[in-house]
Amino acid sequence: MKKHNFSAGPCILPQEVLKKASQAVLNFNDIDLSLIEISHRSADFVAVMDKATDLVLELMDLKGKGYTALFLQGGASLEFLMVPYNLMKTNGKAAYLDTGTWSSKAIKEAKLLGEIDVVASSKDKNYNYIPKDFKIPGDIDYFHCTSNNTIFGTQIKKFPKTEGVMVCDMSSDIFSRKLDFSQFDLIYAGAQKNMGPAGATLVVIKNDILGKTDRTIPSMLDYQIHISKESMFNTPPVFSVYVSMLTLEWLKNMGGIEAIEKLNNAKAELLYNEIDSNPLFEGAAAIEDRSNMNITFLLKDDTKKDRFDAMCKDAGINGIKGHRSVGGFRASVYNAMPIESIQVLVDIMNKL
Ligand SMILES: Cc1ncc(COP(=O)(O)O)c(C=O)c1O
Repeated sequence: MKKHNFSAGPCILPQEVLKKASQAVLNFNDIDLSLIEISHRSADFVAVMDKATDLVLELMDLKGKGYTALFLQGGASLEFLMVPYNLMKTNGKAAYLDTGTWSSKAIKEAKLLGEIDVVASSKDKNYNYIPKDFKIPGDIDYFHCTSNNTIFGTQIKKFPKTEGVMVCDMSSDIFSRKLDFSQFDLIYAGAQKNMGPAGATLVVIKNDILGKTDRTIPSMLDYQIHISKESMFNTPPVFSVYVSMLTLEWLKNMGGIEAIEKLNNAKAELLYNEIDSNPLFEGAAAIEDRSNMNITFLLKDDTKKDRFDAMCKDAGINGIKGHRSVGGFRASVYNAMPIESIQVLVDIMNKL
């Protein structure tokens, strides 16, 4: 592909993954059938699901630590509801950190089921920073935060500590940086950023947090049912799971999260250095909270916008228009984005 794809999601995936995926659509495992026309209960597909979930736990260093990985549907947006359904007691209470549009959507859904204590919010500054001075109350069923704010370009660098259950929406920075994943009891992420095509949602759950509410949970929303059926309670999104498996395999072969984090840091540094040293541009997010995945920046001189847009277009740069709630530009530099593409963007900024 000739374009430099900075799209926020769905987004860039490794070329070798796309090649393998397209081959599997035509003829999967040399069985003369397509991946998307065989039963999800066939041995060939069950092996894909097993490998995908196994790779998730291996890459996160959560194997043998009491966690289950699930591939579900409904996007991260359905997790906004599934999390309280499974973790909040009747008349229960949960604490949420409000760091952007996606956090506030999660809060809205959770409020349908119980009392929500918003422990801190950065809404006062259009979510351009991560609040740090807040206390997580002790009398809650769980605490929820969003690790990376895709729209505003901020990222939690140091996670708050809590004795209770800790839930994190990692949709836009999962598998991008080394973390102690065992500090979380439940992690979820839509596949369509660092894993694969839209359609699957990854949920990683510490098994012993479940079954503690007196709520009646609809089957499709019940994590325990999905665990007992090994993500096959209903027909899973087979293509999305398969491509996620290929991407996780690609990541493992590259040296895992530790190796990709080094590349991601170098990529982000290259672009942030240009933003900070070029008088025509400024970063949109507070420096200490800057995301290494979604880099938001503004062009100070509006009269140069058309020229910048045209130069980007000519160079094959795709998807850097900022979200309407921030304006300016957003370069999403997920795991599969090569540093060479960022250099192309930096060269244009430099020549503007
Ligand atoms: C941080 C975050 N959470 C949740 C979502 C919603 O994900 P989905 O579209 O899979 O429901 C997004 C989508 O971009 C996101 O970036």
